[in-house]
Amino acid sequence: MTEQMKSLEEYKASYKRSVEDPEGFWEDQAKTFHWHKPWDTVLKWNFNEPKIEWFQGGKLNITENCLDRHIASRGDQVAILWEANDPDQPSEAITYRQLLERVCQCANALKSLGIQKGDRVVLYMPMVPELAVAVLACARLGAIHSVVFAGFSAQALADRVNDASAKMIICSDFNNRGNKVIPVKAVIDEAMKKGCPSIEHILVHKNSDKDMALSDHEHWWHDTVDVQSTTCPAEVMDAEDMLFILYTSGSTGKPKGVVHTCGGYMVYTCYTFRNAFQYQDGDIYWCTADIGWITGHSYIVYGPLLAGATTMMFEGVPTYPDYGRFWQIVEKHKVNQFYTAPTAIRALMAAGDDIPAAYDLSTLKVLGSVGEPINEEAWNWYNSHIGKGKAPIIDTWWQTETGGIMITPLPGITDTKPTYASYPMPGIQTVFVDAEGNELEGNDIEGLLCIKFPWPSILRTTYGDHERCRQTYFSTFEGLYFTGDGARRDAEGRIRVIGRVDDVINVSGHRMGTAEVENAIDEHPNVIEAAVVGYPHNIKGQGIYAYVIVEPTDKSEATLTNEIRDVVNREIGPIAKPDKIQIVPGLPKTRSGKIMRRILRKIASNEMDSLGDISTLLNPEVVAEITKGALT
Ligand code: WT7
Repeated sequence: MTEQMKSLEEYKASYKRSVEDPEGFWEDQAKTFHWHKPWDTVLKWNFNEPKIEWFQGGKLNITENCLDRHIASRGDQVAILWEANDPDQPSEAITYRQLLERVCQCANALKSLGIQKGDRVVLYMPMVPELAVAVLACARLGAIHSVVFAGFSAQALADRVNDASAKMIICSDFNNRGNKVIPVKAVIDEAMKKGCPSIEHILVHKNSDKDMALSDHEHWWHDTVDVQSTTCPAEVMDAEDMLFILYTSGSTGKPKGVVHTCGGYMVYTCYTFRNAFQYQDGDIYWCTADIGWITGHSYIVYGPLLAGATTMMFEGVPTYPDYGRFWQIVEKHKVNQFYTAPTAIRALMAAGDDIPAAYDLSTLKVLGSVGEPINEEAWNWYNSHIGKGKAPIIDTWWQTETGGIMITPLPGITDTKPTYASYPMPGIQTVFVDAEGNELEGNDIEGLLCIKFPWPSILRTTYGDHERCRQTYFSTFEGLYFTGDGARRDAEGRIRVIGRVDDVINVSGHRMGTAEVENAIDEHPNVIEAAVVGYPHNIKGQGIYAYVIVEPTDKSEATLTNEIRDVVNREIGPIAKPDKIQIVPGLPKTRSGKIMRRILRKIASNEMDSLGDISTLLNPEVVAEITKGALT
């Protein structure tokens, strides 16, 4: 097992060594895994191309490290503990031995359908154990998985399938979410109609008692997987072979496929899991994220399994059958580490203090937060009403691109301060710069957050478009990885991440490109132009505010805004639907024709008094009209 720091002295010593001798430090962590052949070089890198290689020449399979190597010591320990959407349905406990068998069966089934090392497989599934099994089955074969969150629309799914030229989709028939039964396979059918020419087979997991006919190239999971042998040799991979692609939104254009590779991702997710959560043998760990996001990849599936933990998976939603569901599950399974998003905390906080008070939450030792800045009120409520002041809060800052947790308090080891993600993990060399790229030294500063040295799970490329990777992360400031976030460092060196400084907004912990939402709105036939900005939202963190210019039409404003919401739903999915849509006569533009989003953000945030200088605009008169009709 990788190191687990136990004291402040150990953290300081590890951090110091990780900066002075990063190669020695990470090599020692890597040595604790099972490799078929050791690496030739620990690290080769430059941030200009960029080209980053960790453990180059090393041979491994991550699933042998997640599963096989635990069988002797913990074969009968529960690996995945699954809780259904329906509270009356029995939980499922899958041991490490059973999980290995199921992964092998699924891998054999994929093989029988022609999947080989390097092929891309898209997974579009609810939070059922089969999703984790399918992820690991791909990795067993060296196939590259790309999990698409099952809330995305058919169009968004098709875009991702085609960008990755995936050969296969694995899905479910239906998805149980609260009191809704969502047709998943129907979305696949619609995506296929839009055109996904690379898809050869579709594997369908049955998650309901409804009948459904499948066509020739479609196969039921129970007919195809359950009949296979329970052993399957693991494909031997190079440390730098691709493990997965995960699509994420940026400030421009379509979502990009962030690529992670086998060796470094393995080392870093295991290391950070053990240290951030201080997991001990016998603990029950629960992360409420969906495996469709990076949090689920790294801290439901890979990190915990690499560390031999018992990891929970929950199919449902925090509000079903009522606002006590999370706490009921914590009590039922005696959860020790609980990891969720600020948006969930705020929603549950709004439901009242009596709800958590009705459950026994005394097993909780560590409370995690991820995905967006946590406001002080939510932090305090989480601390006192869930942790009863006894479970340290770890506010973990990281990104899809970083693969694992980058900045976080270490529970019981470093101090905590509301809203502060605090200290960098060993190996993470943070730098603050101003807009010109000058490094801001010392403490009590505010600037743009960058990282100056590679860590093992840094993204390697964006799939099929390396130049975009270079442009987005490595070209803003020479020699630095730019996170896109603004942050401050307090007098004692703790870091607080304030939020995105680019045109990316964070809605309920989901990352969204404003340009992506604008492009979706533009698909509406009456729309001439749209501008989308984020504004502060009590529960979601940020809400989506769309300013839309439409051509003359007989349609009422209500009809138009409903239709626009439907279009966004169709193009991206419900998570991207604007909260507010204002029909406007024009958009404030600079003389060169650029939309002045700064002004639109101020109006959406109801800060009309501080619009700043608008006299240089091409059309200053439009600002007053927009302000008059603002939906605040
Ligand atoms: C962006 C990354 C990391 C998994 C989930 C989100 C924001 C994330 C925090 C935090 C303040 C945070 C940042 C970051 N963010 N965690 N603890 N405090 N902001 O992954 O979708 O790649 O989004 O989420 O703005 O850049 P993601």
